[in-house]
Order: sequence, then structure tokens, then C-alpha cells
Amino acid sequence: MKQHKKSITFKLFIITSLFFIFFTSLTMLLQTVFIENFYLSKKTKDFEANFQQFSSAYSQLGENSTDSSALLSEFQDKNNASTAIINLSGSTLRIFEDKRQLLLKIAKRPASGSGPMSEITDDIITYNMDSKMKMLINGMRQWTSDPLAVAMVLDEGKHLIYHSGVKIDGQNSLVGIAPIVSGGKVTGVLTAAVSLQPIGEAAAVIRQFYVYFYLIALVLIFALSFIYSKIIAKPLVTLNKTAIKLAEMDFSAKCPLNSQDELGSLSTTLNFLSDKLDSSISELKAANEKLKEDIEREKKLDLMKNEFIAGVSHELKTPISLISSYAEGIKDNITHGAKREYYAHIIMDESKKMASLVEDMLDLSQLESGSFKLKVEDFSLTGLLNSISERYAGDLRRKGKNLDLSIPAHDLEVRADMFRIEQVLTNLIDNGIKYSPEGGIIKISAHDQGDTVAIEVENPGEPIPEAELPHIWSKFYRIEKSRNKELGGTGLGLSIVREILDRHGSAYGAENTVSGVKFFFTLAKVIIPIRV
Ligand SMILES: Nc1ncnc2c1ncn2[C@@H]1O[C@H](COP(=O)(O)OP(=O)(O)OP(=O)(O)O)[C@@H](O)[C@H]1O
Ligand SMILES: [Mg+2]
Repeated sequence: MKQHKKSITFKLFIITSLFFIFFTSLTMLLQTVFIENFYLSKKTKDFEANFQQFSSAYSQLGENSTDSSALLSEFQDKNNASTAIINLSGSTLRIFEDKRQLLLKIAKRPASGSGPMSEITDDIITYNMDSKMKMLINGMRQWTSDPLAVAMVLDEGKHLIYHSGVKIDGQNSLVGIAPIVSGGKVTGVLTAAVSLQPIGEAAAVIRQFYVYFYLIALVLIFALSFIYSKIIAKPLVTLNKTAIKLAEMDFSAKCPLNSQDELGSLSTTLNFLSDKLDSSISELKAANEKLKEDIEREKKLDLMKNEFIAGVSHELKTPISLISSYAEGIKDNITHGAKREYYAHIIMDESKKMASLVEDMLDLSQLESGSFKLKVEDFSLTGLLNSISERYAGDLRRKGKNLDLSIPAHDLEVRADMFRIEQVLTNLIDNGIKYSPEGGIIKISAHDQGDTVAIEVENPGEPIPEAELPHIWSKFYRIEKSRNKELGGTGLGLSIVREILDRHGSAYGAENTVSGVKFFFTLAKVIIPIRV
């Protein structure tokens, strides 16, 4: 609720409402208080101007011309006035009422030429007068009874306009007195009176009307202020929503304001900012990700090196100690004849092992280095398998084992690094020979699978425990080291195989069969180019 009170919609609503209520109230107050005075002064001014114009025109025309009676009628109609002419020489009072003329006698001014005119006596007012006429007679009476006012008109030839303080039938009136000058002499007096009634009535009606007007205005002000505030505040609310989403790192949201004003421009800027932030943060994220990967790779490499060094030194320890002790034996001449030959044989054997270990290590470190590239070419797998099995035939026969090669009759052409695939096959066949019992048959087969060729190397013998299967591909990993001890080997063969096959994008694996262990891998057939 507090939030609501602080909202711009609410503020705008309150400010606009207050402003218009104040404005309306002020207008009403000014009109109520001043309209009567304003109207009165305007009416007086208008009447004065009209009366002056009329009286001087009348003086010029002369009393008896037909034009002058037309002028009189026109003045009466225009100002809704009653008029009367006092003929000073004849002592008559001509009253004009509805185009009729009433000629009344009036007492003459004393010959002395000063002092008040004799009062208009009640008996001269003999006919039934309406309010307007009463106002006129009353006005004349007021004038005639004031010597100063009489002198002003008759002696000084001035106009006189005054508000009669006496209410006739509840109405105030405005009275005008002007001299009629003929031949430089004041020959008569023009009098006119108008009622001020309409003002008071209108003011009262207006006051009543304002009560309703005020109520309707209030409702309208509240309704319009509310709508107006909403319209003004709506784009701000939309902008704020987008800004909040930006703050929450959601750059998908875009501000939909398209107006040509400042808010529209702010919306465009906000969207631009969102895009900029989005791309910058994405770039930063990507850079950060790369950095993480680099660090991770560095760490792995470091770990690998450490493991490698530990493994190598461990593997080298045995042959080195064997070589040194047997060499010492020879040196000390504790052996002769066949035994000496046996010692020398062991030294040579261990040296050979060390040499092959170093060779494997170099191979592996080369394969593991990021810069290593395969030399991919198309070659006949059938040819390669045939030549390998021929090469192994003699060795196997000596060891009392057999090799069974089963390949499709048609030539299988693959796309790979031939030298490295030969290395894979030799490693797998070496293992097959090494880990199979006397008389075992090592089965090598190749299957055309359409896009790929699957190659399998299977040997009889003890199965590899299922839990060990995933680990045999790791460097220096050997199962039951004691069991394998007499078989030799350092546990690098399958790591080399793994590296080579990974580089080829091949699928590969090892599984236990009914009677032994089977290794398999795939190679791309020539029709499919492989990614290197
Ligand atoms: N054909 C197989 N039959 C049974 N066990 C196997 C076979 N091939 C590999 N292994 C097991 O997996 C381990 C890892 O094999 P790998 O070829 O990497 O090392 P290695 O043969 O011991 O030594 P190297 O190949 O480096 O001379 C072997 O020590 C062995 O225990
Ligand atoms: Mg091996």
C-alpha cells in the first residue's frame, strides 16, 4: 500500500485532481462573489454610454422632429428603459410608455433660477403605473429634490447617472438625467430609468446551477485525472518492468514502447542497453568458460605428467635394479659359463624392456600432446590384416598358439592413419597372445557395417572382472599385477590404443565372452569422410 502511495499514477492523480478542484472552486467563488458587481458596473457603463450618446443625438435633432421620437423608441427598446422629457418652458412632463405619450404638468422651477425644482406631486401620477414607470418617476423625484443635482444638469449642462437607493417592487434601478440643449440654452431634461432586476435573478440562478455543476465537475475531475494519470504512468510502468528484468539478467525481454517522445527514446536506449549487455555478458561468459577449460586442461596435464613420471620411474626401477645387480655379478666374476651367459641375457632382456617402455612412453606423450595429427589416407584393411597375420604366424607357432583371421571376401577399404591402426592391431593381438593359455586360438575378424567396418580381436582365457573393464584403458593399469608379472608389460598398450581410436572418432570397447575376452573397434569406410 505504501508503494502504491508513492506511485507516480497516484501522485499525478492527486496533483491533477487538486489543481482542477482548486481551479473550479476559484472560478465559482469569483463568479459568485464578483459577478453581481461586475455585471452592475458593466450595465452602468453601458447604460451611461448609451444614454450619453442618445441624449446628445436627441439634443441635436430637436424635440419635435419625427426622427427624435424614433430615436427615443430605439433607446427605450435597446435598453429596456422608460424615458421622460421634462419641458422646462411649458412645465410639462412627457412620459413615454410603450410608444404612447403621457403629457403631465410639472411645477416650474422658481424664477430665481436656483434651488430645487418643485416636487412632482402625487396627484400628477394619475394613471396606473408599472414598475418601470414607478422607477422613472422615483428617479425624477430624487433628482428634483436635490438642488445640487438639479443645478448640475440645468446650470452646468452635465449628465447624471445614479443608482436609485429606493427599491421599487423589490428591484433596484439605474437612473439617467441629461439636459436637452437648444440654441445654447437648456430647454428640457431627458430622463431614463432601467431596472436592475435581471442581474440579481441571474446571479441567484447561476449560484444554484453551480451546486450541480460543482458536483458533476468533481466526478469528472476524479475520473479524468485517474485516466490521465494511468495514461502518463503506463509507459513508465512498462519501462520499469523491462528494467527489473534487465536487473535480473533477463535480456530476452524487450520494451515495446515505440512512441516518438522522450519515453519512446528511453525505451529504445533500454533495449539497446539490453542487447549490449547481453552480447557483452555472453562474450564474458564464453571467455570465462574457455579460461575454465584452459585451467582444467592445464591441471589435467599437470596431473598426467605427475602420474606419468611416477609410473615411469616405478616401471624403470625393476629393470634398472635387475640390470645393475646382474652387471655387478658379472663384474665380480661370481659367474662363469652358462650362468654368465644367463646373467648377460637378463641384462639384455631388461634393457630391451626399458627400450620398449621408453618407446611406448614417447609414443603416448606424442599422441597425448595437442599438436599431434593423424596421417589419414585410404587403404585396404584387408591387405593390412593379411600382412599382420602373416607376420605373427611364426611367433605364434613357436608359442603353440593359433591365429584365425575371418574377413569378408571383398576388399575393405578404410579411411584412417594406417601406421597407427597397425599399432592398435599389434597391441590387441599382443595382448591376445599374452593373456591366452597354451593352444589358444586368437580370432581376428572384420565386418562390413555399411558406413563403418567393425574389427574384433578375441582370445580365450580368464575374463577381465567387470569392475576392471573401464580401467584397463588407463596408463600403467594392469589387472592383478602379481599374476601379470611374469607376462611382462607396463600397462601402456591399451592407453596407446585408446588415444589412437579417440583421434579417429572410432567406437571401441572390451567385453568378456563365454570363453575369453573380446576387443573391438570401428573404422570409417572410404565412402564416408571422417572428421580428424
Ligand atoms: N586380451 C586380454 N585378455 C585378458 N586381459 C587383458 C587383455 N588385454 C589386456 N588385458 C588386461 O588389461 C591390462 C592393460 O593392458 P595393456 O595392454 O594396456 O597393458 P599390458 O599389456 O599389461 O602392457 P603393455 O601392453 O604396455 O606391454 C593388462 O595388464 C591385462 O591385465
Ligand atoms: Mg598390452
